[in-house]
Amino acid sequence: MSDTLTIIQPDDWHIHLRDDAMLHTAVPATARVFSRAIAMPNLQPPVVTPADAKAYYERIQGATPAESNFTPLMTLYLTDNTTPEMVREAAAGGLVKACKLYPANATTNSAHGVTDLAGLDATFEAMAEVGLLLLVHGEVTADEIDVFDREKAFIDQHLSNIVAKFPQLKVVFEHITTKDAAEFVFASDANVAATVTPQHLMYNRNHLLVGGIKPHNYCLPVLKRNIHQQALQEAVASGSNKFFLGTDSAPHLKHTKESACGCAGCYSAPAALELYAEIFEQIGALDKLEAFASFNGPDFYGLPRNTGTVTLVRDPWQIPDTVDVAGEPMVPFYAGNTLQWKVK
Ligand code: NCD
Ligand code: ZN
Ligand code: ZN
Repeated sequence: MSDTLTIIQPDDWHIHLRDDAMLHTAVPATARVFSRAIAMPNLQPPVVTPADAKAYYERIQGATPAESNFTPLMTLYLTDNTTPEMVREAAAGGLVKACKLYPANATTNSAHGVTDLAGLDATFEAMAEVGLLLLVHGEVTADEIDVFDREKAFIDQHLSNIVAKFPQLKVVFEHITTKDAAEFVFASDANVAATVTPQHLMYNRNHLLVGGIKPHNYCLPVLKRNIHQQALQEAVASGSNKFFLGTDSAPHLKHTKESACGCAGCYSAPAALELYAEIFEQIGALDKLEAFASFNGPDFYGLPRNTGTVTLVRDPWQIPDTVDVAGEPMVPFYAGNTLQWKVK
């Protein structure tokens, strides 16, 4: 068993960096390891226009440590009012790489999300034309659909139609959580890929609900039963280039998660690459980590791979119980647990 692992520098293809004090915590944590990250647009108010994206890009740069080479890749939050003109302007500006589809009220800060997908046909056409990707939070929000079935229902009701109707549009099925989603991605053509989070690889719904409710393991889409966790593990272990790293690191202060109505999201940024190394090693797929973390994402986005490297060393360390956000505590994902690998 080797004790060091050097890989091309990875990127994070799905992250929440937030704003203000949280931004100043989340950006350095990500810039520690990642060269680029797809910055999610679900701020309050959301990043809707190309001008919003440019302003957010500048705020992220303002929170980036001087010594790092970190570059945020920007996204627009699709609403019922996103026009083909906005898409073309965003692509021409160069900072925006993708548009994010949140079904209205599916997740944190998604109240402005899309209510009528059919109204976006011209917008999706324009995205395919200018090469912006469609990133989807794939859950339906209808009251009558069980929360554990919402991803599968989204595939059946929406995603299969979108993919069939816009074959030229590159689609990333974000933070997949089910066997159904992994099978859908495998069965789709080369324009469909998926991100997989550390929590959905490491955990299943027992980790959320057995022995007391664990609010720090609550995220959306919610953790599923273990057959789904296994399917995700098999997907990444297969070495398929359709699956890549997207942490969905989603910071929320401790008191907002330990609450009668706790927020959804796991803050994995302080140990992101180490968490993936841990689970890839456990499933015997450490040799697939580099492509998952550093090749498949840029290849799918049509961006150059990074040229620098990062080195992981086998040096067990414990994730701290909390991190500080301007004087307030936040509990990182896997807090208090020991990881085998550490970025040098
Ligand atoms: C994310 C957040 O907090 O912004 N939460 C989550 O549980 N994943 C939103 C999202 O990615 O759906
Ligand atoms: Zn989401
Ligand atoms: Zn997310």
